[in-house]
Amino acid sequence: MRPVLVTGAAGFIGSHVVERLLGLGRAVIGVDALTDYYPRELKLENLSAFEANGSFRLVEGDLLELDLPALLREAGSVVHLAAEPGVRASWENFPTYLKRNVEATHRLLEALLESDVEHLVFASSSSVYGSAEHGPLSEDARRRPASPYGLSKLAAEELVALYGREKAVPATTLRYFTVYGPRQRPEMALTSFISAAAKGRQITVFGDGEQVREMTYVSDVVDATVAALEAPPGGVYNVGGGNRATVNEMIRAVGAALGTGVEKVHAPRIAGEARTTWADLTRTTRDLGFKPRVSLKEGIAAQVEWVLATQSIRGG
Ligand SMILES: NC(=O)c1ccc[n+]([C@@H]2O[C@H](COP(=O)([O-])OP(=O)(O)OC[C@H]3O[C@@H](n4cnc5c(N)ncnc54)[C@H](O)[C@@H]3O)[C@@H](O)[C@H]2O)c1
Repeated sequence: MRPVLVTGAAGFIGSHVVERLLGLGRAVIGVDALTDYYPRELKLENLSAFEANGSFRLVEGDLLELDLPALLREAGSVVHLAAEPGVRASWENFPTYLKRNVEATHRLLEALLESDVEHLVFASSSSVYGSAEHGPLSEDARRRPASPYGLSKLAAEELVALYGREKAVPATTLRYFTVYGPRQRPEMALTSFISAAAKGRQITVFGDGEQVREMTYVSDVVDATVAALEAPPGGVYNVGGGNRATVNEMIRAVGAALGTGVEKVHAPRIAGEARTTWADLTRTTRDLGFKPRVSLKEGIAAQVEWVLATQSIRGG
C-alpha cells in the first residue's frame, strides 16, 4: 500500500492520526509548515513519539509553496488537516484564514487532479453550522457559520465538494466537533483551564459559561478518520463524541480530576462562539460504523494527566 499523506501532521489531531496509521502498519508522509499559531516547539514535541519511526517522514513546508504534485505521486491517500484554527483570532486575521484554509485546500485539490490518489479525507468543522439551538444537527442542516473561521472551513468544504462533482476528486468530508485530549492546542478551553487550575491560577471563562459543547475525545476522532479513509470516498459526516457539557460543568470536572477547588473569572463572550453544538451521528454510525467510545470523565482525566506530565515543556 502506498503511504498516506497527512497534512498538519505536527498539529494536535494530525499527530494522533499519524500515530494511529503507523500503529496500523501504514507508511506516512507528514506535511506541516509548523506555523506560529502556537509555538513550534509544541508541534515538534507532538511528533516526538514517532519521529524515529522508519515508516514516517516529515516534510516541513507550506501547502502554498511545496511541490504538491511530486509529493502526491508517492501517496495513495491524503488526510487533509492542515489549517489555521481558532474562532477568536479569525476576527483579527482573516487573510491568514483565507490563505491557510481556502487557498491551501484549493492548491491541494488542483494537485490531486494530476495524481492517482484514491481518497482525500478532509477535516472540516462543526463551526460551519453555527449554533444548534433546537437539538442535534444532521449533515443536511442549514450551515450558517458564526465566525470568519467557520466561513473559511465552509468555503474549503464547498471546494472539496465542487472538485468531487465537477472533477471527480474522490473525497470525504468530516465535520469534527470540539476535539480534546492529550496534545490539545494550548489556547483551547480545556488545556488552558487545566494548566491554569494546576498552577492555582484563576480560569478565564468567556461569557457566562453556560454554552454547551459536543466534546469529542481525540481517539474517537482518529477512529472516525481512519474509518473514513478505509470506506469508499464520498459524503459528509459529523464526528462528535456523544458527550455534551457546559463550560461550567467542564470546569467542575477539571477541579474534580485535579482534586482542587477552581477559581474562575468571567470575560466578555467571544463573538462567533456558538451557544450550543450538538452532533447527530446517525449517518456516521450507519456508513462508517463509528461510535464514540470515550466518556467526558475518562477523557478529561487523560487530558489532566497529560497537562501535568508536560507542564515543564509547555512553559509551566
Ligand atoms: N481541534 C478541534 O477541536 C477541531 C474541531 C473541528 C475541526 N478541526 C480541524 O481539524 C484540523 C486540525 O486541527 P488541530 O486542532 O489539530 O489544529 P493544529 O493547529 O494543532 O494543527 C494544524 C496544523 O496545520 C499546520 N498548517 C497550517 N497551515 C499550513 C499550511 N499552509 N501548510 C502546511 N501546514 C500547515 C500547522 O502548523 C499545524 O501544525 C484543522 O483543519 C481544524 O480546522 C479541529
